[in-house]
Amino acid sequence: MTWEDSHASWWLEEIAGDPSYERDVDPMLRALVPPGGRGPILDLGCGEGRSLGRFGRTVGVDLLPSLAAVAAGRGPVVIADAAQGLPFADATFDGVYAVLVLEHVPDATPVISEMARVVRGGGWCVVVHNHPVLTAPDSGPVVDVGDGEVLWRWGEYLGGGHTDEPAGTGTVRFHHRTVAALLTGFADQGWDLERVIEARLGAMDDPLFYAQRFIPRLFGARWRRRG
Ligand SMILES: C[S@@+](CC[C@H](N)C(=O)[O-])C[C@H]1O[C@@H](n2cnc3c(N)ncnc32)[C@H](O)[C@@H]1O
Repeated sequence: MTWEDSHASWWLEEIAGDPSYERDVDPMLRALVPPGGRGPILDLGCGEGRSLGRFGRTVGVDLLPSLAAVAAGRGPVVIADAAQGLPFADATFDGVYAVLVLEHVPDATPVISEMARVVRGGGWCVVVHNHPVLTAPDSGPVVDVGDGEVLWRWGEYLGGGHTDEPAGTGTVRFHHRTVAALLTGFADQGWDLERVIEARLGAMDDPLFYAQRFIPRLFGARWRRRG
């Protein structure tokens, strides 16, 4: 199960303007994208294009024509399924970023491999991802009704699998990969790890999120293309 048109309207109407983007997601992306660089950048799974062009000359790619149409107002966009191959020549880009995309892809290996093909040797890849602690099926906060203490249930962290979360009138699927699977998946496709960030997510004036402030919900990393 992957993204389809019904997800586009849910994304645009309910999620794209969520304050967690400005508060949590954007700072992580900014902290990971390396400065400088003159070559083009690829925004993989660009959605409605909120990050398009933020770090220089950027091309977006997205699976869904309806989101790509919105993103096209912000910069050049190509419609493609990254798991089936990216419509760019080898070594086209200085770098690529994928923000909250890989967890929606059933098999991330072909996407990671395509990112390596279209980025030049020495170029970079940045991924911002829901933290694997969060994507583990049945993972989540548990509130002790006795004293209100918030505990974290790890769910099936080591088990793989997926979770279907409500999205508009349907659901959206989050595929779970452990940190080990994610990092090894990149190493196997020619990427050398350079930096990892784990961060909280959520408004700290919300008591439930405040109680979870030491639990990572966002995971970000930067790799360099070997060769
Ligand atoms: C959660 S949204 C994130 C959008 C954007 N990166 C952002 O942070 O605002 C995931 C995006 O990935 C796109 N996507 C999912 N699978 C894809 C694939 N195989 N190839 C290209 N885009 C894909 C979806 O259409 C959607 O726009």
